[in-house]
This record gives sequence, C-alpha cells and structure tokens, in this order.
Amino acid sequence: MIRTLLIFSNISQRLTFLLFICILICLVQIALIFQLFSHHDKVHPSSRFMKLNCKQKLLCPNNITRFSIHIDKNIQYPNISYIRSPVFSIILDTIRNSSYYTNDSTSACIHIAPVDTIDRDRRSKNGDYLYFIEQRLKFFPEWSDPNKIHLIFNHYTGTWPSYHRTLDFNLPSHYILASTSLTYSNYNCLSHLTFPLFHSNYSFSSSSSSSLPSRSMLLSFKGKSYEDVQHHRTFFRHLHNNHDIIIKYTDHTNTSDDKNEYIQLLQQSHFCLVPSGRRLYSYRLLETLHYGCIPVITTNDDELIILPFSEIIDWSKSVIIYSNSSLSLLPYYLKMISKTQRNDMQKQCLTIWLEYFSSIQRIVLTALHILNDRFISSFSSLSIQY
Ligand SMILES: *[C@@H]1O[C@H](CO)[C@@H](O)[C@H](O)[C@H]1NC(C)=O
Ligand SMILES: *[C@@H]1O[C@H](CO)[C@@H](O)[C@H](O)[C@H]1NC(C)=O
Ligand SMILES: *[C@@H]1O[C@H](CO)[C@@H](O)[C@H](O)[C@H]1NC(C)=O
Ligand SMILES: *[C@@H]1O[C@H](CO)[C@@H](O)[C@H](O)[C@H]1NC(C)=O
Ligand SMILES: *[C@@H]1O[C@H](CO)[C@@H](O)[C@H](O)[C@H]1NC(C)=O
Ligand SMILES: *[C@@H]1O[C@H](CO)[C@@H](O)[C@H](O)[C@H]1NC(C)=O
Ligand SMILES: *[C@@H]1O[C@H](CO)[C@@H](O)[C@H](O)[C@H]1NC(C)=O
Repeated sequence: MIRTLLIFSNISQRLTFLLFICILICLVQIALIFQLFSHHDKVHPSSRFMKLNCKQKLLCPNNITRFSIHIDKNIQYPNISYIRSPVFSIILDTIRNSSYYTNDSTSACIHIAPVDTIDRDRRSKNGDYLYFIEQRLKFFPEWSDPNKIHLIFNHYTGTWPSYHRTLDFNLPSHYILASTSLTYSNYNCLSHLTFPLFHSNYSFSSSSSSSLPSRSMLLSFKGKSYEDVQHHRTFFRHLHNNHDIIIKYTDHTNTSDDKNEYIQLLQQSHFCLVPSGRRLYSYRLLETLHYGCIPVITTNDDELIILPFSEIIDWSKSVIIYSNSSLSLLPYYLKMISKTQRNDMQKQCLTIWLEYFSSIQRIVLTALHILNDRFISSFSSLSIQY
C-alpha cells in the first residue's frame, strides 16, 4: 500500500487514493451490516417474543370461587406395578404443600390424577414411559367426570426430528396441559401452559448472582453433536475459533470432566448456544440462565417455540432467538450488541432465574400462580368457559 501510494507523486493524488480506499472499506462494511439487517427479521423477529396475552378467563366448575387443586385419591390400578418418576413425585409434593391444595375433592377447582404423564416418549431411555396409561387414568372416577378440569404435566412427547406431539392417551373433556416445547402454532391460551424442562436432580447449592466471574469468551457450546441425525448443532463447529468462540463436543471419556468443562464455559462466556436437542426445549436453558450466560436459542424456522412461562415473563430483554439458517452470521450479530446492552441482558437472565426457576418448587409454584390468574376468582357473569 505504501508503495502504491508512492506511485502518486503529488499530495492531492495520494489523498484521493486514500479516500478511495476508505470508501471501499466503508462499502464493504455497509454491505455486511446490510446483510445482517436483512437477516434481522428472520433471526430475531419480535413475534418470537410475543408475551402470551390471554383475554379470556376460565371459570371453576360447580360455582367454586377459589382456585384450588385436588390430587385424586391414589387408588392403585390392580395388577400393574405402579411407577412414578422423581420429577412427577416432586411436582405432586409441591402442589400438596402449596396454599392452592385442597384435600376435598368436591371443593376443588381443578384435579390431578396421580398417574405419571411426564414422559410420553416411547423411545425414552430412562424407563419412565408409563404403559397402560389409558386404563390407569380411567380408573379414577374424576378423570371421566365431564364437570371436572384436569391439570396434566408433561415433559416429553414424541421425539426428534419431527417433535410429533402425542401423549399416547386421550385427554379428558376439560383439561389444562402444562407442557414443554410448545410452539405458537399449537398453543391454546386456555388449555395450555408453557412449562420448562428440568432434571429431577435440578438444584443449585449456591446462589449465582453474587459471584459473577469475569467473562472472556463471546460464545460457547459444549454438548453432544448429534451427527447421526444431521442436527444443526453439528454446524456449530464452524464457529469455533479457539479464541473467543469455543465449541466443544462431548467425548464421553470422562463425564465428570465433561460436566466441569460445560459449567466453566457457562461461567466464562457472555453468550451460550442453546440448541433444541431431542426436544425443542433443552435442559440447557435454565442452566445457562443460572450461570448468567445469555442464551442464544437456535431453532428451526418452522418451529416458533414459546419460551417457558411466557404467560408472565417478558423474555425479549434477556435471550436471543436465532434462526438455524444463518448461523455463520451469528458472531457478527453478537458483536453488534453493545457492552451495556449485554450487561443488562445478563442481569435480566439472573433475575428471571431467581424469580421463577431457582428450584423445582419455585417452578411448580410459578405454574400454579399463572393458573390462578387464568381463573376468575369470584363468580362473575363475564365468564366464558366451562
Ligand atoms: C350454581 O349456582 C347457581 C345460582 O346460584 C345454582 O342455580 C346452581 O344450582 C349452582 N350449581 C351448583 C353445581 O352448585
Ligand atoms: C386384574 O385385577 C382385576 C380386579 O382385581 C381382575 O378383575 C382382573 O382379572 C385382573 N387382570 C389380570 C390380567 O390379572
Ligand atoms: C413438603 O412439606 C414437607 C413438610 O413440611 C417437607 O418435608 C417437604 O420437603 C415438602 N416437599 C416439597 C416438594 O416441597
Ligand atoms: C382433609 O384434611 C383434614 C386435616 O388433615 C381432615 O380432617 C379432613 O378429613 C380431610 N378431608 C378429606 C375430604 O379428606
Ligand atoms: C441428573 O440426572 C440426569 C438424568 O435424570 C443425569 O443424566 C445427570 O447426570 C444427573 N446429574 C447429577 C449431577 O447427578
Ligand atoms: C434448519 O431447520 C430447517 C427446518 O426448519 C431444516 O430443514 C434445515 O436443514 C436446518 N438447517 C440447518 C443448517 O441445520
Ligand atoms: C475424571 O476426571 C476427574 C477430574 O479430572 C477425575 O477426578 C476422575 O478420576 C476422572 N475419572 C475417570 C474415570 O477417569
């Protein structure tokens, strides 16, 4: 460049040349920015953060004025051994301990059958898929009562890649399904409740917000690669730069090493990739929030997932939803986010985690509070349903 500059003998020629170079660089920059913005709608459409706003309200059956829950009396279905997953047990215990619980079936606004509906994926490896579920459910007289509303919890329906939602049992006449992986196309604001995915051993000993370590990485990911099913997370490897973007796939040689590295990356990065996995939701979302890393949720364009508890949480200031189709632009997109904005998002993540997700009990109570708001508390002529 210096040599080229020397070709031009007089100063004004040199200046013109410099100006030309500057304009060229500017144009390239503008083109890049333009490309980002043209993708922006696809990448970050505001519709993906629609806070669910249900105008209709529900009414408890039988003139019941208080939102209350009854767990149907646990009569054992004969001659089939009864299994209950740890997650379902904790959910029932939390409800039993809550102020919404009533042990009187006749005064209850909604019911829960003590039949484990958490895992409805036949391919599930943890053995929590419950067989003969239809028979077990029908065994409870309340289940078949058309005047009763049943609350049903579900973590897994169907499986990757099509995420077919099949519970493998018939829903009762009136129900509310608290389920993970709901999308805008299948959500019904009266009969669905967005529910997060978590392990039965989901618990954190220390509170996270106090000790924020300094973060040196822009983006990271550590997890399975799913190469067998051509998942878009296998593309993440192309983002790895061994500097401020670290992508590592689990190698299974030492699970405790894998786990430690996973947590370290969550603590050291500003942004963490949260791809859908075998499900649309992943355990990663809550873990990422807990460690104060901003989740970058990568999804397929045709699956507009609703984040958990969008009924009450405004997620737009804390997470990024990013289309799987423009992953190569992701680093530029993230670098455009200012430090201040990043810090605000991070704080918001921790606040959301503490308020709604910091324990299974808190998660279940949040779900109950949302339901409480959904029912008209006193008998009113404005009523719509049931
Ligand atoms: C509900 O209240 C209405 C009006 O007070 C009454 O006519 C009706 O019998 C009540 N229904 C039940 C199931 O108690
Ligand atoms: C299961 O128990 C019920 C009632 O005790 C009985 O009528 C039925 O024959 C039993 N079924 C089997 C397969 O043993
Ligand atoms: C429910 O309450 C009992 C007694 O207070 C307590 O021992 C138990 O840990 C609670 N369980 C849950 C899930 O909140
Ligand atoms: C509900 O619990 C109370 C106190 O534990 C008990 O006295 C009452 O009989 C119970 N009611 C029913 C319908 O089981
Ligand atoms: C928590 O449970 C899951 C399966 O439910 C298991 O894969 C994981 O290793 C467990 N984590 C810990 C820390 O025990
Ligand atoms: C993104 O998701 C779509 C389905 O919406 C799929 O067809 C496509 O292959 C995915 N792209 C990548 C890069 O994985
Ligand atoms: C896995 O790594 C941890 C920590 O580095 C070590 O303590 C443990 O012994 C290793 N386990 C095996 C089976 O290699």
